[in-house]
Amino acid sequence: MAELSLRNVSKRFGAVEVIRDLSLDIPSGEFAVFLGPSGCGKSTLLRMIAGLEAVGSGEIHLGGARIDTMAPGDRGIAMVFQHYALYPHMTVRENMAFGLRNIGTPPAEIERKIADAAEMLEIGELLARKPTQLSGGQRQRVAIGRAIVKQPRAFLFDEPLSNLDAALRSRTRIELARLHQRVSSTMIFVTHDQVEAMTMATRIVVMNQGRIEQVGTPMEIYQRPRTRFVAGFIGAPAMNFLPVTGVTGRGGMAVARLPDGSEVATEVPIGAVKAGATLTLGVRAEHVLPGNGAAAKVDVIERLGERTLVYANLSDGSAVVYDEPGDVQLSVGESVALTIDGAAAHLFGPDGLALHG
Ligand SMILES: Nc1ncnc2c1ncn2[C@@H]1O[C@H](COP(=O)(O)OP(=O)(O)O)[C@@H](O)[C@H]1O
Ligand SMILES: [Mg+2]
Repeated sequence: MAELSLRNVSKRFGAVEVIRDLSLDIPSGEFAVFLGPSGCGKSTLLRMIAGLEAVGSGEIHLGGARIDTMAPGDRGIAMVFQHYALYPHMTVRENMAFGLRNIGTPPAEIERKIADAAEMLEIGELLARKPTQLSGGQRQRVAIGRAIVKQPRAFLFDEPLSNLDAALRSRTRIELARLHQRVSSTMIFVTHDQVEAMTMATRIVVMNQGRIEQVGTPMEIYQRPRTRFVAGFIGAPAMNFLPVTGVTGRGGMAVARLPDGSEVATEVPIGAVKAGATLTLGVRAEHVLPGNGAAAKVDVIERLGERTLVYANLSDGSAVVYDEPGDVQLSVGESVALTIDGAAAHLFGPDGLALHG
């Protein structure tokens, strides 16, 4: 059964439709990540689930009960924001106790819940401090602790890692994944960062302009993007896109000709290709193989340590990025030969949809 169910949810601010007839089921215990560019409506959607924003139309159900008509405090949801929103005049302990005291939780139980959360998050020594006496990472833990003590049905996180430095961000990612294993509540995490989505999600919901582009596990989204938008949004470096100048069939599969005259034998059935349609070929850097094939010239070399990204131009000028080992000997201006692995290549139609069998 779906724990959280969004049914035809829409929202407009004035003339602008921010969420457009969005439906989604999130199973119990899932770590779902809403991923999309800034402004696509992620926060608005989360705020409607939490009750901080009214739905325009549609319904939201949690654990079998309709919640969009309930007061925020009755929904069994805890939300953690990018800006930690701790009460500055209260200690860490008081911040964590505040919500529980408001609903009449007995003091001994409050103490026990705070102690449990503090142990889980390793913030036991911080309980007597005020928020100003904490680092950004510590404040974020306290904000998470304040959510945990509520023992919500669902946790909502709105870009909670954005204010942390890179090292702390990757540590906190791992801690959140561990937290999810321990508390097994449904979690919804909103981010524009595809690395956060790939690393933490059990399922990613890719959003664009108030709509869902695709829902899938991280590897489904990575390997079988449903649209060109998803293909370009997930993965670093971004997928290569090349215009297709012609398509022929061979053994039932589409062979795409590129502007430099080279051909890529894809595994897309030729039957999926509409005659005369303008197609785009998509291929990730790791599926462009150096050694032989189409002539190209090295333009920029990016050393990442464990791998090297090479930006090259094909003979017609098309730009392609591909992978080399970290210690590859290569210089700018050098001639190389590249083969696109057709089995891993995607074809996108003029409507942006991937062609599949
Ligand atoms: N209270 C508001 N009034 C008017 N427009 C808003 C309001 N809140 C958000 N928006 C607009 O709605 C769109 C989606 O915003 P938001 O949900 O914050 O996106 P995201 O979290 O994905 O960056 C944006 O264009 C934003 O400017
Ligand atoms: Mg936002």
